Amino acid sequence: EHVSLWGGRFAGGPADALTELSRSTQFDWRLAPHDLAGSRAHARALHRAGLLGDDELAGMLAGLDRLEADVASGAFGPRPDDEDVHTALERGLIERAGPELGGRLRAGRSRNDQIATLVRMYLRDEARALAAGVLDVVDALVGQASAHPGAVMPGRTHLQHAQPVLLAHHLLAHAWPLLRDVQRWVDWDARAAVSPYGSGALAGSSLGLDPSEVAAELGFDAAVENSIDGTAARDVVAEFAFVVAMVGVDLSRLSEDVILWATKEFGFVTLDDAFSTGSSIMPQKKNPDVAELARGKAGRLIGDLAGLLATLKGLPLAYNRDLQEDKEPVFDGVDTLSVLLPAVAGLVATLTFDTERMASLAPQGFSLATDIAEWLVRTGVPFREAHEIAGACVRACEQQGKELWDLTDAELAMISPHLDPRVREVLSVEGSTSSRDGQGGTAPVRVAEQLARVGQAAARL
Ligand code: ARG
Repeated sequence: EHVSLWGGRFAGGPADALTELSRSTQFDWRLAPHDLAGSRAHARALHRAGLLGDDELAGMLAGLDRLEADVASGAFGPRPDDEDVHTALERGLIERAGPELGGRLRAGRSRNDQIATLVRMYLRDEARALAAGVLDVVDALVGQASAHPGAVMPGRTHLQHAQPVLLAHHLLAHAWPLLRDVQRWVDWDARAAVSPYGSGALAGSSLGLDPSEVAAELGFDAAVENSIDGTAARDVVAEFAFVVAMVGVDLSRLSEDVILWATKEFGFVTLDDAFSTGSSIMPQKKNPDVAELARGKAGRLIGDLAGLLATLKGLPLAYNRDLQEDKEPVFDGVDTLSVLLPAVAGLVATLTFDTERMASLAPQGFSLATDIAEWLVRTGVPFREAHEIAGACVRACEQQGKELWDLTDAELAMISPHLDPRVREVLSVEGSTSSRDGQGGTAPVRVAEQLARVGQAAARL
């Protein structure tokens, strides 16, 4: 016999095609522990309101305990005709506590306020776990940065050599956005910590139940102010999906660097065997699949966010069944990041940098030209003119096929009377990097401070 939560006014059962379409247990079953926690809190609310006697409450809680154990062991699971996690668990409770008692739990709540609450409970738990995974990637970056305090590399803009920077400075530039992502989850949690339980279908409950007590029992800071908003809003879910997508994008940018660095042409890093893959035909290959999967999965995480926003955009208040589609995008985001974050953390932690090669490439491509211009500015030359003079140095070097530090005293003097041999002090990578000692700059003293601050920021989260 088909068991539904809404059979009363219907003469016959649903069409098979409807049952197939409607079913959500294949994805919402992961909310079962939260549904059971909600049911316990709701049973106590019914008891406080005088709608369940002491023995009834005890029987109800015992039934829920047995059901929880059976869910955990796998002895109880959804049947094909259970519409959703709520339907299946009500059936399970009735099987254990009997139809009389089991049938009392549904008073004063709706699947609309239940699902809105459960998804928040689930996402709040997952945000904590994912944030820890993001902090592991930050740790890996910080570990590599502290292992290479003096290493330099070509800094790029437009992917062209721009100015030399410290490797640690570059690595930490990937750590800060990830720390902000974790901070985003922390900020988000304050908005997610509001419970819709007690909103009912949309209008609240007439049974004298206290939503704030249920909220507190479920770990929320408060109950929602508006029961329509409580059941209809999904901005909290969309915001979670945004943070997931942003983490995906940040990992993807880091991964793109690793992919480039691992090419023969860059030759900056060697990937650890444990975090690279081979080719079935080309015996020499060592491929950066972890980084490529990170880059690829970022696209999918963006799609999860875009799909969810598209689902929400036209919905009138309050609950519409379209809202059932809110879960798969965020569940996919959670599952995707859960496997991705440990892999990226391991990839980064096990990179071997060829710091000699990076150092020899750092001053190439005339990346010290800005240092000539800024040296001239410090001697009183207007920057406009200094830029022209430094550009003329580059042109002269290009014509003669030499580097800036190879210009003779006579050549320097011929390019401009403002140039004298002392300019060579800044024509080294060390001279260039240590001169950029303003706050946030690439000078070794500043980067050492920054390294300490990243650690402090991560410890505060
Ligand atoms: N399974 C639904 C969801 O995930 C909750 C059930 C609400 N259904 C309904 N007909 N009011 O959103």
